[in-house]
Amino acid sequence: MKKETLKNKSEITFRELDSQDAEKVLNYLNKVGGETDFLTFGKEGISYTIEQEKVVLRNMKETERSYMIGGYINKNLVTIGSITSSSKKRLKHKADIGISVLKDYWNIGVGSQMMEYLISLCKKNNFKKVDLLVYENNEKAIKLYEKFGFIKEGLLSRDVLIEGTFYSSYHMGLKID
Ligand SMILES: CC(C)(COP(=O)(O)OP(=O)(O)OC[C@H]1O[C@@H](n2cnc3c(N)ncnc32)[C@H](O)[C@@H]1OP(=O)(O)O)[C@@H](O)C(=O)NCCC(=O)NCCS
Repeated sequence: MKKETLKNKSEITFRELDSQDAEKVLNYLNKVGGETDFLTFGKEGISYTIEQEKVVLRNMKETERSYMIGGYINKNLVTIGSITSSSKKRLKHKADIGISVLKDYWNIGVGSQMMEYLISLCKKNNFKKVDLLVYENNEKAIKLYEKFGFIKEGLLSRDVLIEGTFYSSYHMGLKID
């Protein structure tokens, strides 16, 4: 599919990933890592074997209120989003989320749709607060998160180190009533 042909939301389908998706997820992560400096890994990708990735996906699926979601266009995995949370009584009102989109599909609304999906899943799971971290220079992602109501709550210094340069990250949060 060409970028400009993405016309409506129904062209993307979302589903929870499971262990059977391990190889495709690794291929996705290894690709997206080389396309951006705004993730916690770069072109070196993820060093997991398929078997290790299967375990990660199985654990996510079996953990209550934690999700690894894949977004598909024409059967291609084009975006991954995650929700993780704690089962501790004092922390279980909160979720941490993260998203990425393959470069070929940037700027056509895929990230926004993934964000909408994750927030609705957070609401269904009765989370009252959604948190995320974003590098201070990732203007596009910050704009996207602000569009969904996230606000900057703090700046974490020296949060990442990329080829000798430290970057800070904003902690951004969204309250859900
Ligand atoms: C950030 C990311 C998730 C956004 O996904 P996407 O599918 O491109 O996002 P969308 O198309 O839904 O929205 C992009 C928005 O940013 C805007 N935008 C594009 N380039 C921009 C820039 N340089 N600065 C500010 N805004 C920009 C677009 O106009 C659009 O705005 P709109 O919704 O008001 O029309 C995606 O680019 C990505 O995966 N990047 C690499 C990994 C990453 O940064 N992940 C987030 C880690 S916190």
